Amino acid sequence: MVTKEQILDALRDVEDPEVHRNIVDLDMVKRIEVDGDRVEVEVLLTVTGCPLRTTIEHSVRERLLAVEGVREVDVVIGTMSDEQRAQFAAKLRGGKEPQTLPPLLQPDSGVTFLAVASGKGGVGKSTVTANLARALAREGLRVGLVDADIYGFSIPSIFGIAERKPTVINDLILPIEVNGVKLMSMHFFVPENQPVVWRGPMLGKMLRNFFGEVHWGDLDVMLLDLPPGTGDVALDVHQLLPKSKELIVTTPQANAAEVAVRAGVMGLRTNHEIIGVVENLSYFACPCCGEKTYLFGRDGGRHVAEALRTELLAEIPVADLSDGGRALFADDTPQGEAYRQLARRVIDRAGLATAVASR
Ligand SMILES: Nc1ncnc2c1ncn2[C@@H]1O[C@H](COP(=O)(O)OP(=O)(O)OP(=O)(O)O)[C@@H](O)[C@H]1O
Ligand SMILES: [Mg+2]
Repeated sequence: MVTKEQILDALRDVEDPEVHRNIVDLDMVKRIEVDGDRVEVEVLLTVTGCPLRTTIEHSVRERLLAVEGVREVDVVIGTMSDEQRAQFAAKLRGGKEPQTLPPLLQPDSGVTFLAVASGKGGVGKSTVTANLARALAREGLRVGLVDADIYGFSIPSIFGIAERKPTVINDLILPIEVNGVKLMSMHFFVPENQPVVWRGPMLGKMLRNFFGEVHWGDLDVMLLDLPPGTGDVALDVHQLLPKSKELIVTTPQANAAEVAVRAGVMGLRTNHEIIGVVENLSYFACPCCGEKTYLFGRDGGRHVAEALRTELLAEIPVADLSDGGRALFADDTPQGEAYRQLARRVIDRAGLATAVASR
């Protein structure tokens, strides 16, 4: 005879794909009925039309069919009431009301913040941030990424998820997870093609919300794609995250390098530790003979690293994106390989090696 307890036990193996906790602990299982070898369960989702509905339905069915004695499984999908949803959100917060200082920003959160900065725009800062995030996730780290570049949110489109919207449960927002990276961007919340006018205090508020009202779960490292230059947002980040480490992106061009140094000096002045410099668009390697052409000159990255008394951690080659190829580089490309090496250096320089070892 199959018992309800057996079914409940089996359901503890089924995780909510967004929250990564089992659906029993999350009180998502509303009803279990056993009739001989036939089982019917009702699972409650937070919102109707939840895109993960089929995933959950499938995992429940598969897990229950593996229980000895079960031959037929019916999964009924329901939706939480407002009250149930509020309880769910409270559960994710660990039963606590939102604290003044979000858990992520508590001194003992164990999260390493890494802000990616550049002096000039268009040097590939967002591309570097996205590819580095993915490469760090590949090394086994739990990675978050906040797109704080309010002048142009490009992180979602680099990851190919610009059309998606995060799940919002009451006032708790779930980050979108892709390629092992949890993402949050203001892009998800502004209407399409509308200009956003940001005033100083709003920027800080947005960042605070991203840290306070987004359910990140446990993270090892949080990357921030900062707007170019040394403006308001950069200052806000420096204030909000006094212990953040910083990575400077430049191109080999002399003018880009000069401005990158300025951005770096600003980081140093606010006591951010600069862990290194990434030179992007370093050279083009001929796909036939491998010969390198230095399209944008040479040594920008080295100069910046010397001026900031840090190391040049990577030289990322120019990719041929003329066929509409994506700027999230596959592992078997020269760029992918360069990012893998960069990730390993960053792990070393940012003190993440123990986190990697414990995964
Ligand atoms: N290594 C590379 N090879 C080829 N194209 C690249 C490379 N890195 C970045 N790009 C391209 O250069 C353009 C600018 O890159 P990206 O948006 O990352 O720069 P950014 O510094 O974040 O710019 P912004 O100041 O607008 O935020 C993009 O079209 C991107 O695809
Ligand atoms: Mg950008």
